[in-house]
Amino acid sequence: MIRIFDTTLRDGEQSPGCSMNLQEKLQMARQLERMKVDVIEAGFAISSQGDFESVHEIAKAIKGCQIASLSRALEKDIDAAWEAVRVAENPLIHTFLASSDIHLKYKLKMTREQALERAAAAVKYAKKYCNEVEFSAEDASRSDIDFLIQMFEAVIAAGATIVNIPDTVGYTDPFEYYEMIKAIKERTKGIEKVHISVHCHNDLGMAVANSMAAIRAGATQVECTVNGIGERAGNAAMEEVVMALKTRKDIYGQETGIVTTEIMRASHLLQSLTGVKVQPHKAIVGANAFAHEAGIHQHGVLMEKTTYEIMTPESVGLSDNLMVLGKHSGKHALKDRLEQLGYFVSEEEMQSLFERFKNLADEKKTVYDQDLEALVIGDMANVVEGVELVDYSTATSEGKDSKTIIKVKSKDGAETEIVGSGKGPIDAAFDALSAIFGQDLKLEDFSIYSVTRGKDALGETKLVLSKNGHKFSGKGVSNDIIKSSILAYINAVNHLEYFTERQQKLEEE
Ligand code: KIV
Ligand code: ZN
Repeated sequence: MIRIFDTTLRDGEQSPGCSMNLQEKLQMARQLERMKVDVIEAGFAISSQGDFESVHEIAKAIKGCQIASLSRALEKDIDAAWEAVRVAENPLIHTFLASSDIHLKYKLKMTREQALERAAAAVKYAKKYCNEVEFSAEDASRSDIDFLIQMFEAVIAAGATIVNIPDTVGYTDPFEYYEMIKAIKERTKGIEKVHISVHCHNDLGMAVANSMAAIRAGATQVECTVNGIGERAGNAAMEEVVMALKTRKDIYGQETGIVTTEIMRASHLLQSLTGVKVQPHKAIVGANAFAHEAGIHQHGVLMEKTTYEIMTPESVGLSDNLMVLGKHSGKHALKDRLEQLGYFVSEEEMQSLFERFKNLADEKKTVYDQDLEALVIGDMANVVEGVELVDYSTATSEGKDSKTIIKVKSKDGAETEIVGSGKGPIDAAFDALSAIFGQDLKLEDFSIYSVTRGKDALGETKLVLSKNGHKFSGKGVSNDIIKSSILAYINAVNHLEYFTERQQKLEEE
């Protein structure tokens, strides 16, 4: 049995454009629970108050999966990780230290001996709190194999129950990685008592292939993310690893406990929560992954599915369910549909959602799944205690600059109102917003999508702002695209403040 360690909410969430707030992370965690992943890495508790709270809330809410928090090999990190996960049914502390000479020399300024000592001490310290401790040797794939084995022996002796061999920079290839995992399995004292975990990044497009090679060499845990999101080119995509094991059981002889029929829902939910869409030809979850376009293929599939289909769309949860809601639909139907889409909504949230649903259903004849998602996501995208939009109005006429007046309320309740001007109402709105939030914010990317069909469709705005080279994304939904653009801008500003606080905290330490 291969353990699936999902790091969508930690390594995945760390990547630009994929940040999620507490509500969004909880929704995703619930879906991971439904899929029955073995481990949910819920965040990096020490990195910010927000991360700490997310890990803690997920640890409280989720049952049946192990909940992990990342920590550097430092006592204060391990304290925070434990504080955050201790309430979980089955907690795990995940601590890491680099093992490659490049990282030791330039980043940690440490000798190999010091690193050995620090790694073992961190595991020993974590063990005081928690039975289950994972140790990751960061940049393992570029480390000296003899030293790596020494490091794993030291952490196993200190009580580690999982050793992880990350390809942090996505540098290895399946043949090399296979040999590395095999050597670790054959030569490390005590390795038979622990799980061998792999964690591959996708810089050369080989994260999944490398993970599969590692399984053939004896790895028993794979770290991965939904849709393969993650730092730079991403992490190994969970759905690809899981379906490769299922489809090619003949060569791997291994299974996972994943409920594969939940795969599409997880993929879709993550895309809606982050606004980061997968490409149409993405394996397993792309819109075209099960579409047969060529006539010769269509003919073959009509005759006998297995001619061109190696797995069924149903096995990953793809269905043609086109149920739509309208103004006569009741609260039960709405709740049911949201749950089918992967959203769990409390009674209290349901109250306000239902009102908004009714308003929307009055405006639109048909409320599609995407409209519902936009409603829920619009609610969740608002970072708690961030800046809020109070009011706006706009004036545009032929041959003149547009004017947009915006009033916002800051966290402490202070209201600011500014008039902006520009070539069109959105340009004018952004002019006002940059006067409010600072001219050093640069608009890097901006797009508006129609969530569904028809002239009454909801508009979703997604944009990216940058400050001092750091990028922050925001999204907003409304059937007025000027409002959705203002909301997206404010959402990005709130993300910026949240991540700046998180960064400052890390730098102070
Ligand atoms: O890529 C990496 O090395 C990591 C570790 C912290 C496991 O994410
Ligand atoms: Zn990683």
